[in-house]
Amino acid sequence: MQSSNAPVTAASKKQKNGTLTVTDNRTGSQYELPIESGTVRSTDFRKIKSEPDDFGMIMFDPAYMNTASCRSSITFIDGDKGILRYRGYPIEQLAEWCTFLEVAYLLVHGELPDKDQLADWTRGIAEHIQVHENLKKFMDSFRHDAHPMPMLMGAVASLSCFYPSAKEIFDPPERQMNMYRLLGKTPTLVAYAYRHSVGKPYVDPEVGLGYVENFMQMAFKRPGQKYQPDPVLVRALDILLVLQADHEQNCSTSALRTVASSQVDPYCSVAAAIGALFGPLHGGANEAVLLMLDEIDSIVKVPAFIKEVKEGKRKLMGFGHRIYKNFDPRAAIIKKMADQVFSVTGSNPKLAIAMELERIALQDDYFVSRRLYPNVDFYSGLLYQALNFPAAFFPVLFAMSRMSGWLAQWEELVQDSEQKIARPRQIYTGHELRNVPDAFRYR
Ligand code: CMC
Repeated sequence: MQSSNAPVTAASKKQKNGTLTVTDNRTGSQYELPIESGTVRSTDFRKIKSEPDDFGMIMFDPAYMNTASCRSSITFIDGDKGILRYRGYPIEQLAEWCTFLEVAYLLVHGELPDKDQLADWTRGIAEHIQVHENLKKFMDSFRHDAHPMPMLMGAVASLSCFYPSAKEIFDPPERQMNMYRLLGKTPTLVAYAYRHSVGKPYVDPEVGLGYVENFMQMAFKRPGQKYQPDPVLVRALDILLVLQADHEQNCSTSALRTVASSQVDPYCSVAAAIGALFGPLHGGANEAVLLMLDEIDSIVKVPAFIKEVKEGKRKLMGFGHRIYKNFDPRAAIIKKMADQVFSVTGSNPKLAIAMELERIALQDDYFVSRRLYPNVDFYSGLLYQALNFPAAFFPVLFAMSRMSGWLAQWEELVQDSEQKIARPRQIYTGHELRNVPDAFRYR
């Protein structure tokens, strides 16, 4: 494997840096704009004016298709090559050798923890796993059929009221404390949302259990009985958490950064990110995939479904990605894991439908020409279902994992002196100045 730590040579630096000369054909003026790391600053285009009192050129990029909003050293993705690395480590190696808590530490602190650092990190999180009794009442106040994602979003936002000192975002110990709280309490809140939906009493966290075991016992333990999760399933969930922990400037992380740029506390920022993740084009896709597989119901109906997709009547959920245009390395790992999980739980009949969808799509010109491949959400739902979670819980499990990435990105943002409050421009398309009609005056 080629090392990602290869030194930046003078030649490679020269290619990435330099200047860009722009000629404005309206005026004939030329402008020289600096290029740094293959990037030009949008604000440099403001120099380009057609008249002296012109505001200056604005870049238009409605869905951030080609706009970098920050410098980040957390996650690297090469979408053409199907590469995903956290802090330089390939996702394949992290999924094979590391636990979710180690990876969460890596994301937040930049290095994998040594033994003592891991012990402190684990203890810090475990100390904050319990939630205030009032929060249980808050969870109780939702209808039994409330979707768990907005429940989690509301519960996380409410933590802002329980911990008002979280607004001291420039105080490092305070930030650390709130990261412990968010990583500790999120599994508890997810488990409680699940218990609420099935009408079972909440189960307290148990001292001494691992992060994932504790979550599983809070979700699945029956009153008065001992709960012993299968180690294969514990590891499978742990790996799923590793795979989805961060993904650079995706929709929810950008939402988090935008909200956090106003200097509000991390609970409000993360709540916004949870809202963004809920959408079916983002983290809600894993739930949508399961609903789609349920609807297709039988392998013989797959060609008819694909036909509808190609006619533009619907989407093949769990396919396509803004960045990955070859394969999503997370999907490849999940697919390999499926055998191990199904050897414990028994196979999921929907797997055959999913594999047939993938088989047909990967040789069909519609998908091939648009470079549409299975993404992380295509197979993750089948595994979550094997772990006994209903489809509505898949996005919440995604959020439980992504919490680590959001917090790492938040920490990076707060310390980034280049960041200011996020405030995009617009192209105004409304009316010129006009007066309120007489009929509305002096009534
Ligand atoms: N099924 C059918 N056609 C699709 C799909 C799909 N899943 N995804 C993209 N296309 C088509 C799209 O209609 C367009 O066709 P045309 O050029 O004829 O107009 C072309 O492919 C390009 O798609 P796009 O919508 O411009 O691509 P995008 O980068 O804006 O959207 C996406 C990326 C992930 C939102 C989109 O592929 C999609 O909606 N996929 C289904 C939802 C999904 O699985 N989301 C999870 C993403 S991975 C995890 C995460 O981010 O949380």
